Amino acid sequence: MNIVIIYDSSTGTTAKAAEAMGKTFEDQGHTCRVQSVVQADLADVLEADLICVGSWVKGLFIIRQHPTEGTMQFIEQLGDLSGKNAVVFCTYKLAIGSTLRQMAKALEGKGAKVVGQFKYRGPEPNNKFPSFAASLT
Ligand SMILES: Cc1cc2nc3c(=O)[nH]c(=O)nc-3n(C[C@H](O)[C@H](O)[C@H](O)COP(=O)(O)O)c2cc1C
Repeated sequence: MNIVIIYDSSTGTTAKAAEAMGKTFEDQGHTCRVQSVVQADLADVLEADLICVGSWVKGLFIIRQHPTEGTMQFIEQLGDLSGKNAVVFCTYKLAIGSTLRQMAKALEGKGAKVVGQFKYRGPEPNNKFPSFAASLT
């Protein structure tokens, strides 16, 4: 499968999580490109079978959490994603609130089907990500 991972990272945590996810996908035999929201090549994104979008959680820690502006702007500029699968993920410290829901809703608004949502308290893609990656065919 051709996979692209696009992330927004301020201090490197989400970038590290994205790279580690990419390695896990490649270990499963997939092709994966990892790019930041500023480097993202839209042609690569629209060619991918699975689009993963990651943000760090921004907010007041216990309330008003949301994805970064850069993440949402990246999703906004995408064209029609009908027929494409998507994954959303975020890194955080305390609580994510509706961060993943906001990202998923924006991607669904473009026609994508969100097949996975993951949150990591740090740079390690723990949670259910490894079994998700192993289940992709
Ligand atoms: C301005 C600011 C606001 C943040 N707000 C939240 C928050 O509301 N909830 C939370 O769990 N973490 C919050 N964090 C922590 C970051 O989401 C977390 O450290 C993240 O892993 C940073 O990712 P990065 O290293 O890729 O930038 C905040 C960090 C900053 C700098």
